[in-house]
Amino acid sequence: MKFHSAQNTAEIIHGDCLEVIPTLKDGYAMVIADPPYASGGGGIREKQRSTSDKYGIDSPRFADFEGDARDQRSWVSWMAQWMSAARSKCIDEALIAVFTDWRQLPSVTDAMQWAGWLWRGIVVWDKVNPRPQLGRYKQQCEFVVWGSKGTIPPNRDIGVLPGLYSYSMPAGAKRLHQTEKPVPLMCDLFTICPARGKVLDPFMGSAPAEEAALITGHDVTGIEVTGHYFNTSAKRLRDFCG
Ligand SMILES: C[S@@+](CC[C@H](N)C(=O)[O-])C[C@H]1O[C@@H](n2cnc3c(N)ncnc32)[C@H](O)[C@@H]1O
Repeated sequence: MKFHSAQNTAEIIHGDCLEVIPTLKDGYAMVIADPPYASGGGGIREKQRSTSDKYGIDSPRFADFEGDARDQRSWVSWMAQWMSAARSKCIDEALIAVFTDWRQLPSVTDAMQWAGWLWRGIVVWDKVNPRPQLGRYKQQCEFVVWGSKGTIPPNRDIGVLPGLYSYSMPAGAKRLHQTEKPVPLMCDLFTICPARGKVLDPFMGSAPAEEAALITGHDVTGIEVTGHYFNTSAKRLRDFCG
């Protein structure tokens, strides 16, 4: 399914990214990915609970999503597998940015390098108003592990970028996904991508990255396996493109 803004196109595909990515044409300049973190709970029994249960979301407006029940070994191998598949569709000097939480941060940096990307650093997403935790530090931040396919020359006309962004999660009636990321955060993350560079998003969810790509002037391909969220994305992009 394709959606067109004035200058750009978002193509969204319903399916498993490991099956879809090999069918795509080459030429991506950036991969942005918010995969299932599979981080709720220590043991396999806890990980296999529904995502609404694990992440404390008790609204029937949001469907549970797939892919979050792997144990740690399987999850890390799977992360490396899709990152490797995505890398094979990217141009030299392409960028990758992968969301994670504090529990999975070390494993994401391992998987990224395992897949052949050069690990370049970590950007902090300050969520501003996370759940309070009595007697503990708040889990106020998530992280974006980033890397590149080979070298990236410093003189790419991108400028100096911050290492921390502060945005609240979408809330109330505007919220579309159990683990939704803010569109302005996605727009900021795309400032590292060369002008008009094509973006690949293997875990589209409710499509904030696709909306942000269109806002910032990039063509984008989004993939989503859970039917409910594929339909949510289609509606978001239909509304956005008018
Ligand atoms: C963390 S959520 C992404 C949320 C999204 N960033 C948003 O703001 O709406 C991960 C998404 O990946 C999807 N997913 C899980 N496994 C997948 C797979 N193998 N291929 C494609 N999508 C997958 C899930 O259904 C879920 O919607």
